[in-house]
Amino acid sequence: MAKKLIVANWKMNPQTYKEAEDLISEILKGVRSTKTTIVLCPPFTWLTDFSHKNKSSTFFGAQDVFYREEGAFTGEISPKMLKSSKVNYVIVGHSERRELGETDEVINKKLRAALRVGLKPILCVGENENQEKSHVIETELREGLKGISSAKAKSSIIAYEPIWAIGTGKNCSVEEAMTSILIIKSTLNKLYSREVADRVKILYGGSVNPENASSYLEENFIDGLLIGGSSLSAKKFIGIVKSVQ
Ligand code: PGA
Repeated sequence: MAKKLIVANWKMNPQTYKEAEDLISEILKGVRSTKTTIVLCPPFTWLTDFSHKNKSSTFFGAQDVFYREEGAFTGEISPKMLKSSKVNYVIVGHSERRELGETDEVINKKLRAALRVGLKPILCVGENENQEKSHVIETELREGLKGISSAKAKSSIIAYEPIWAIGTGKNCSVEEAMTSILIIKSTLNKLYSREVADRVKILYGGSVNPENASSYLEENFIDGLLIGGSSLSAKKFIGIVKSVQ
């Protein structure tokens, strides 16, 4: 069976280099002998320092990227900068960025730019409580993947994250996550082919903790987890990784 993919999204945490360094060294020690693929996504300030020093089999990812190649874009980071800094993954379209005004069109540009240099994008999709699940998932996938070939789509990762489950402690039931993942698969089938739908890795994210993590991964359809809050505690994150072996 393929290795499960566990992604840590630290968001805008922790606040000092010292805390970040302590967290990373504890995590790297604790996950050393595990059989999962681990991707750590610290904020940009710590990311490239950690990725350059990294001698473990753990991968690094960014929480965002800009879509232009180079030039006068104050404050932005290009896909090539990430790629040349030993960063392999990038989260695109997280609901917290959509909340700040990021549109499907911008997300699509970021996804294409990331794929162009060989980064693996993790496209986040998911509905809020008052939205119709299938409509939101289908739209975010269709718009996010616009103009992306089958070959490139296969190296993308989709994370299903219902907004109401993010950071709330109210994780989505496994049954509901499965329903959503089936919607993702059937949309990929419609947009591309059965082969693409089978090949694209699909993660679940939203209030995952060491107690509930393994229940998602017992399902063959769920290829991994995107972890926010619980990835800021080495003990909890290692607990999650160990629980899914
Ligand atoms: P959470 O966040 O684990 O804190 O719910 C998940 C995410 O935002 O990716």
